[in-house]
Amino acid sequence: MARSALLNVMVQAASKAGRSLARDFGEVQNLQVSLKGPGDYVSQADRKAEEIIYNELSRARQGYSFLMEERGVVEGDDPQHRWIVDPLDGTTNFLHGIPLFAISIALERQGQLVAGVIYNPAMDELYTAERGGGAFLNDRRLRVAARGRLVDCVIGTGIPHLGRGHHGNALIELRNVMGEVSGIRRMGAAALDLAYVAAGRLDGFWEAGLSPWDTAAGMLLIREAGGFVSDDEGGQAMFDKGTIVAGNEAIHRALLKQLRKPLAGK
Ligand code: IPD
Ligand code: CA
Ligand code: CA
Repeated sequence: MARSALLNVMVQAASKAGRSLARDFGEVQNLQVSLKGPGDYVSQADRKAEEIIYNELSRARQGYSFLMEERGVVEGDDPQHRWIVDPLDGTTNFLHGIPLFAISIALERQGQLVAGVIYNPAMDELYTAERGGGAFLNDRRLRVAARGRLVDCVIGTGIPHLGRGHHGNALIELRNVMGEVSGIRRMGAAALDLAYVAAGRLDGFWEAGLSPWDTAAGMLLIREAGGFVSDDEGGQAMFDKGTIVAGNEAIHRALLKQLRKPLAGK
């Protein structure tokens, strides 16, 4: 498949970091049985992957700014362009030897998402999208699922854990959605969840408490696959609010409706 020069740069950075993560994932599986566990090892793997991505991207596109999960904001000379990077999304899965984790890289130009790459090295699944150019899984063009009724749908979400707020709200939202759908999934890597919506594997997704590096690339993938993405009130303040709701037009609308309901008494 012919890719633009920009996507090539992003794919190269993701592949190189992916090789590093895949090697470390193998080691994590060995460390699993030790009493101390692979915790420190995983933080190192995460930082190493970020370093690789940072070096690759800054060499290929000099002066672009960065927003990265580990390094935070790096201001470049070019304020028009910003990379948004999560070097390892799904850290808890990675730590537990579950092969659902990914690298997420997006590029914003003048505040608009123009390119996104999500790569799961354990499954060698590469998701790419460029504004106006469609979304792809490896070489296959993606479309969001066509199901029109929640009752037929499998919906992904995220559930807050120890140290994260909003437990009460999350329970209310879950209660309001679970009685309407054919299945709920909590897979543990928001970037991959969004990629799965773009690929039609999940019919929809919602989560609160997310950061731009979790969602940026996935949002573009979904839009380019014909889907809809908003915050939990139907607006476009996903980065500011940290909430996201996604699906095809009908499922996105139906999810928003369920999420806004006061606790349904079922
Ligand atoms: C996390 C994952 C998880 C989501 C959390 C994120 P991390 O990212 O995407 O699915 O529920 O809110 O923080 O910490 O693994 O990069
Ligand atoms: Ca993340
Ligand atoms: Ca991360």
